[in-house]
Amino acid sequence: MILRFLLFSFTTFICQTFANDQDPGAITFRDNCSACHQFDGSGNESMKAPSLAGLPRWYVSDQLRKFRGGERGGDSKDAPGHLMHMTAFKLDDRIIAYLGQYVQNLKPVNNRHTKDFDSKEKGKELYLKNCKSCHGENGVGNKPDRVPPLDKQPDWYLLNQMHNFEKKLRKHSEQQIPKLSEQQMKNIAAYLTALKN
Ligand code: HEC
Ligand code: HEC
Repeated sequence: MILRFLLFSFTTFICQTFANDQDPGAITFRDNCSACHQFDGSGNESMKAPSLAGLPRWYVSDQLRKFRGGERGGDSKDAPGHLMHMTAFKLDDRIIAYLGQYVQNLKPVNNRHTKDFDSKEKGKELYLKNCKSCHGENGVGNKPDRVPPLDKQPDWYLLNQMHNFEKKLRKHSEQQIPKLSEQQMKNIAAYLTALKN
């Protein structure tokens, strides 16, 4: 019994290792991304690198192309975005597609609620009024309009992006997010990170 289990585990391990050795997305992620985003894609706040695990492939690819071209992160005043710009400019379209697929298949992170940002109830109200039409009621996003989910990223990162949109360091969509106070942004981040994914 134990022997069968060991043999099974060993075969699974070999198969997985072999599969990953063949997958250009897995290899590139391990060699070029995991230093900041971690092997499991759970991110690292001290590097300001968000969790990526479970983000849809089309969004990951869109963003990598935006980073590569400098449309996102091209401005050195946006230090975290600029780091990604420096990383992405060497990626070609083929590898970007593999990376998107690899990241989408990583298991989403659950502990995204890391800060005491206070009122998720007030955040819910604001979110449903101003954001739901595009990002969906539960923050699942919508592919046809290229709108990302907001239920996979940590609170500190969501807040950073709202700051970036406000300072025009990153383009949001054709529609600006409405003028929000710091506390309102925090409330929205608290609401989003309390959602299950
Ligand atoms: C030197 C650290 C570093 C490395 C290496 C790195 N990243 Fe990042 N990444 C970041 C930071 C910091 C951000 C946040 C940028 C911001 O705040 O706008 C980020 C953001 C992203 C985003 C945007 C997420 C979102 O929700 O919009 C994607 C996608 C991404 N990285 C993918 C990758 C991939 C794929 C690789 C490997 C090819 C990689 N990163 C390598 C630091 C890094
Ligand atoms: C008109 C549609 C629309 C509305 C309304 C909207 N968004 Fe967005 N949002 C987008 C699009 C499109 C993107 C992707 C931008 C890109 O490609 O870089 C985005 C990106 C974001 C991101 C970045 C996610 C990431 O992983 O980096 C955050 C955070 C965000 N929106 C917050 C909000 C908030 C908060 C509201 C409401 C106050 C809101 N959005 C309302 C369309 C919308």
